[in-house]
Amino acid sequence: MAVIELNNVWYRYPASEDWVLRGVSLAIPRGRTLITGPTGSGKSTLLRVASGAIEVYGGVLEGRVERRAPTMLVPQVFDMFVLNLTVRDELVYSLENAGVPPPEAAAQARRIAEEVGVDHLLDRRVSELSAGERQRVAIASAIAWGARVLMLDEPLAYLDPAGAKSLLALLSKLDLDAVVIAEHRLHLMESWPDKVVVIEGGVVKAVVSNPEEVQEVASHGGGAGLWGAWSARMAIQVAGCEGGHPR
Ligand SMILES: Nc1ncnc2c1ncn2[C@@H]1O[C@H](COP(=O)(O)OP(=O)(O)O)[C@@H](O)[C@H]1O
Ligand SMILES: [Mg+2]
Repeated sequence: MAVIELNNVWYRYPASEDWVLRGVSLAIPRGRTLITGPTGSGKSTLLRVASGAIEVYGGVLEGRVERRAPTMLVPQVFDMFVLNLTVRDELVYSLENAGVPPPEAAAQARRIAEEVGVDHLLDRRVSELSAGERQRVAIASAIAWGARVLMLDEPLAYLDPAGAKSLLALLSKLDLDAVVIAEHRLHLMESWPDKVVVIEGGVVKAVVSNPEEVQEVASHGGGAGLWGAWSARMAIQVAGCEGGHPR
């Protein structure tokens, strides 16, 4: 069963002149999903709506979003670290927020930090870390909070190819129900996803989950006309994905 389901979802920001998401119906399964599409196509908006983070933006949301597991978004800019805490305190704070008693929180913080590869940073202040280190702390913090579904918006933006490879390997090995990445740097994603969702103009243009096709779309991407070509090839699969206008 899907961990998150969107049914005919329409969304516009308070400042939008028109709908940004236009009748998105989508099932996010267990495992690894890549959401891709050109700049401005609605990838970030889709992650915000699917994760629930859209609440802080206001705007108008229509249709149905069903989340069956605790979901956390790691945004592109890590502006969620409002307090100038050490990594240890950040993790302990998330654990205590999630109801873990203080005596256990310290040990769990260390265990999670080890799992995510930030144990050497436990006594550093989050504000002093590099973007790549902060990203790992954000992932650890989401796990400490109890996330079972992790969504990451353009997580490869600040990483070199080796860093990207290492992050994707980490995201494959963590004990989570699902990981969703929004990216247009497809050449770095290669064999990572189980499922690829192509979005353009706020509309789901293609959903690919057959392994060879996933490989093809996730490795040959970035070239001109990719999304158009895929939307044409996948026309049969996406028929019925676009929904009707809610009014
Ligand atoms: N906070 C916002 N307020 C108003 N419009 C926004 C906001 N964020 C994004 N948009 C608009 O929504 C559309 C989709 O943007 P976005 O979801 O960021 O696409 P992507 O992540 O694929 O680049 C764009 O037209 C963008 O200008
Ligand atoms: Mg974006």
